Amino acid sequence: MITTKELRQKYLDFFVSKNHTIIDGASLIPENDPTVLFTTAGMHPLVPYLMGEKHPSGNRLVNYQKCIRTGDIEEVGDNTHLTFFEMLGNWSLGDYFKQEAIEYSWEFLTSEKWLGLDKNKIAVSVFAGDKDAPRDEESAKIWLALGVPKHKIAYLPKKNNWWGPAGKTGPCGPDTEMFYWVGEGLPPQGSNPGNDETNWVEIWNDVFMQYYKDETGNYIQAQQKNVDTGMGLERTVAVLNNYHDVYQVDTLKPIYNRVLDLAVVKNNIKAVRIITDHIRAAVMIMGDDQGVVPANVDQGYVVRRLLRAAIRRGRELGIDSYFLQDIAQVVIETLNNPYQELFRNKQRIISEISIEEEKFNKVLNEGEKKVKQFISNGKLSGEEAFQLYTTYGYPIDEIKRLGVEVDLDSFYEKLKAHQELSRVGSEQKFAGGLADHSEEVKRLHTATHLLHAALRKVLGDHVAQKGSNITKDRLRFDFSHPTKMTPAEIQQVEDMVNEQIKKHLRVWWTEMTVTEAKQKGALGLFVQKYGEKVKVYTVGEENDWFSRELCGGPHVENTAELVSFKIIKEEASSAGVRRIKAVVGK
Ligand code: SER
Repeated sequence: MITTKELRQKYLDFFVSKNHTIIDGASLIPENDPTVLFTTAGMHPLVPYLMGEKHPSGNRLVNYQKCIRTGDIEEVGDNTHLTFFEMLGNWSLGDYFKQEAIEYSWEFLTSEKWLGLDKNKIAVSVFAGDKDAPRDEESAKIWLALGVPKHKIAYLPKKNNWWGPAGKTGPCGPDTEMFYWVGEGLPPQGSNPGNDETNWVEIWNDVFMQYYKDETGNYIQAQQKNVDTGMGLERTVAVLNNYHDVYQVDTLKPIYNRVLDLAVVKNNIKAVRIITDHIRAAVMIMGDDQGVVPANVDQGYVVRRLLRAAIRRGRELGIDSYFLQDIAQVVIETLNNPYQELFRNKQRIISEISIEEEKFNKVLNEGEKKVKQFISNGKLSGEEAFQLYTTYGYPIDEIKRLGVEVDLDSFYEKLKAHQELSRVGSEQKFAGGLADHSEEVKRLHTATHLLHAALRKVLGDHVAQKGSNITKDRLRFDFSHPTKMTPAEIQQVEDMVNEQIKKHLRVWWTEMTVTEAKQKGALGLFVQKYGEKVKVYTVGEENDWFSRELCGGPHVENTAELVSFKIIKEEASSAGVRRIKAVVGK
C-alpha cells in the first residue's frame, strides 16, 4: 500500500535527485491573479515564470499544489472526480524539454527504486496534430525508445492532448499523458487509452509548453520552452493501491467513514461521497489565510453552495442533527499535515461552518412551512416554487423531496428566464444554491461596488477585494490596506459613495471576454473560467464611469435606489486586511 504522504515524498525526492528545487505550493485563492476564483492547476501560480520571468529558486522546480475545480461538480459522486485535489508537479522553465521530461516520468513510474510499476500496465497518449501544431512524433519516439510498444501509444486530438492556455492567451502546448491499467489481468494486445477509456486511468500529464496563443487565436512558437507536469495525487494513490474509488485514499477515507457513521440511510453511497467531497473542499478553501467565509459572492459563494449541497444531502441520509462541524473536524485532522494552515484557521472554519449550517437549516425549515402555506389545491404553482427559491433560497429539490406536487415546467421556465438575466456562469450548475435576489441584497451589492471603487480612489490602487459578505441588513467588505483608516478617510469614502448615489448613475452590464474586461479597466474576481465570457457591471456611462467590476450580479438599475450610504464600522480583519461594514437606505 502507498499513502499520499509517501507518494508526495517520493515525488519530491525523485526530482530533487534530478536537481530540482522544492518550492512551496500556493494558496487556493490566487494571490496575484484576481482573474480566477481558485488555483485550478499547479501551473497557475507559475504563469509569470512560464512567460519568462526568472524564478528565484531556479529553472527546475518541484512541488505539490492544492487545487479546486468546480467545472466537473456534476460528476462528483462517481469514482474519481473531486472538487478539491492535490497535484504533484515538476517544472522546467526553459531548461530540459521532451527528452528528459519523458525519461524522468518513465523512471519514476517504473524504476524499482521509485514506484516500480509494471511496465505492461502503462500506456501513453501523444498529440495527434492539427492545423495549429504538428503530430508529436518526437514524444512518441522517446516513448518507443524507452520500450513502450507502438500499440500502447494513442494519438489523440487537442481535446485530449493539449493543455492551456490558462487564459485566452498564454503559454500552452501538446501534452503526453500516462495511463495505468485498472482492468482485470493484463491489458489485451492493442488496447490503449484511445480505444478503452474505462480501464486506462490517466495518472500523469507532461505538458510541453512550446507555443503561445495570441490575441488573434494563433499559436506562435514560444520564446521559452517549458515543461509543466501534473500528477493527480488522490487518483494516483487510488490506482496504485487498486482501490475501486478515490474515497478509499487516506486523505478521504476517514472523512467518508465519519459521514457513513452518521448516516441513518446507509445505502446512498453517492450522497456520502458528495458530502465527503463538498465539506472537504469547503474546509480547504476556508483554511487558507485569506479568510474566505460563506458569502453571496466570489469564493465565499462557492463555499456556501458546497456546504448547502452537503446539508441537503445530509437530509437525504436521514441526518437531522447538525453535522458539518463534526465532519469539518475530521477534515482538519486528516489534512492538517501537510496543510498546517488548517490548524491555524481552525476556529474560524468551525465557527463559520456552524453559522452557515444554522442559517441554511432555518431556510429549509421556514421554506418547508412556506410550502405548506402556499399549497393550494394540493399543488404548488411554478410561480410559488420560484418565489420560494428566489426570495428564501429554498431549493426546488427540497420541494420535490417533500413529495409535494409542483408545476415543474413553469418553474424551470421562470428559472431559465431569471438565469439568463443574472447568469453567474459555470458556478450556476451547482445544486442547492442560494439565490437571494431581494431588493435589500441588490442595493447592498451595488453599494459594495461603489465602496470598492471609492476605497481605491481615496486610499490607492493597492486596495484589492479580499472578501465580501452581504446579509439583508448590511454589507461587509474586506480589502487589503496596511493601516487603520483615519476618520477623515472614512468620511471621504462615505461622501464619495453618497455623491454617486445623488448623481443617479445608471447601473448596467455587458458580457465580454476576460481580455476585453481587463482592457476596459474592470476590477474584481472573475466568476467564470478563463476564456469564457464574463459579465461586467458598470456604474456610470461607457466613457465616464465610477465603477466597473466583474460580477454575476444582480444589482439595482440606478444608484438612486440606494438612497444613502453609511459606514458603520472599520476594523482589522487579519494582517494587512481591513474590514468595513456599511448600510444603505433612509
Ligand atoms: N497543467 C497540467 C494539468 O493540469 C499539467 O500540470 O493537467
